[in-house]
Amino acid sequence: MTDLFSSAEILTFEGDPKFFWKDIVRAIENNGRKDILQSPVVLDVGGADGKFSKHLNTQGVRCVSLDRNKWNADPEANPVVGDAYKMPFADESFDIVYDRGAFDDSLYKHDFSKLLLEIARVLKSKGILAIYEMAVPPEGELTKYFRPLTEAGKNNPALWEKL
Ligand SMILES: C[S@@+](CC[C@H](N)C(=O)[O-])C[C@H]1O[C@@H](n2cnc3c(N)ncnc32)[C@H](O)[C@@H]1O
Repeated sequence: MTDLFSSAEILTFEGDPKFFWKDIVRAIENNGRKDILQSPVVLDVGGADGKFSKHLNTQGVRCVSLDRNKWNADPEANPVVGDAYKMPFADESFDIVYDRGAFDDSLYKHDFSKLLLEIARVLKSKGILAIYEMAVPPEGELTKYFRPLTEAGKNNPALWEKL
């Protein structure tokens, strides 16, 4: 691994994936996009050990966990090693892309213009980007490819719909 977390960072990023997924489902339902929850294919970008993806797969929701570092993820997480800037997926592969921690600009210096373009590429039309971050990517970059479903900057998860 090239960027190991300190134990403080690991603590910060601990959390039960079932609560995050419940939150996302609730937010999607509350924002008029129940349709996307029928049979979604989900990507966890920066999925690390794949806990979130494994949880979804065990619930019958198809999910892939992408991370540039090779974690010891359970095969049920469908782990894929790859860079979020050049993902090994075809265009419009996913209904929902989930990020928690990978967009953190204080840990990783991001070029959001490129990163969000690549995320928009792998999302289907009207697909949803669900972001859990203390600070979301710049709104000006997000609105190039997405429209906000939740009030921008005020919610976790923040939901953005692909234009
Ligand atoms: C702070 S951790 C969060 C892990 C997990 N999402 C969670 O909620 O616990 C961020 C993860 O994003 C990954 N990451 C950062 N930049 C990436 C990139 N360009 N491509 C793929 N993964 C990346 C890191 O390797 C790390 O595993």
